[in-house]
Amino acid sequence: MKNTVVTMQLQKNSKDKITMLTAYDYSTAKLMDESGIEAILVGDSLGMVMLGYEDTLSVTMEDMIHHSKAVARGAKQAMIVTDLPFMSYQISVPDALFNAGRLIKEGRTHAVKLEGGEEVCPQIKAITQAAIPVMGHLGLTPQSVNAFGGFKVQGRDETAARKIIQSALAVEAAGAFAVVLECVPALLAALITQLLSIPTIGIGAGAGCDGQVLVYQDMLGIYNGVLPKFSKQFSPVGEQMKAGFSQYIQETKTSAFPAAEHTFRIDDDIITKLHNEFI
Ligand code: KIV
Repeated sequence: MKNTVVTMQLQKNSKDKITMLTAYDYSTAKLMDESGIEAILVGDSLGMVMLGYEDTLSVTMEDMIHHSKAVARGAKQAMIVTDLPFMSYQISVPDALFNAGRLIKEGRTHAVKLEGGEEVCPQIKAITQAAIPVMGHLGLTPQSVNAFGGFKVQGRDETAARKIIQSALAVEAAGAFAVVLECVPALLAALITQLLSIPTIGIGAGAGCDGQVLVYQDMLGIYNGVLPKFSKQFSPVGEQMKAGFSQYIQETKTSAFPAAEHTFRIDDDIITKLHNEFI
């Protein structure tokens, strides 16, 4: 069954946890889709895990469209959500609408995600009125890394916790179909999940959310070797990749690779004739 905004809402209603992972390319999206993942996020985290930037701020619309298209070709059942990158929606509502439209038309995504609370509600309203589903993103919003002074847990004191609750209610009222809660205390995320009628997707927000999302390089151990506290390595793929690369290097150096079964044959008479002529 194809996953959509409707099936995601049904999952919240029936307390069936929503599974989401990031993906940025065709092959990974295809593997995830075949594994049964329900939603794929083409996150602007691609700036860090795919392009090697130190934060997400340099990611462009062209980057997001390029990776979104690749994921859309690989995923057949999963619902795809693509991030609006930094400064593609903050400046004005027309900008936000135009860029959300590009992600749908050119990126072939099903929904867009943007970061922020009340200040981006006019954008959420305008985009949803154009029939483009919007996922909100609250708590640690990485595009605000400079304002936060680093990648830090949000909503720990009462004022900050109240602000996140108000933002979640505002984002829902503006028309968002779901909201990501990133790096907020687990009990605060559980409270917001109870308050909202739309699904919450947590990352570093505890098991009380309606679903979870992880950056796939983190959960497979293939990014930087540093696992964030809230993530979990489900498979040591990074180590397996390194072992494979080392074995390839060793077998190539010793000519163990390529072996006979990896090569193509030519008729003996032809090669003898060519030898006699050229060597
Ligand atoms: O860009 C991203 O991968 C995200 C997740 C961390 C939620 O926004």
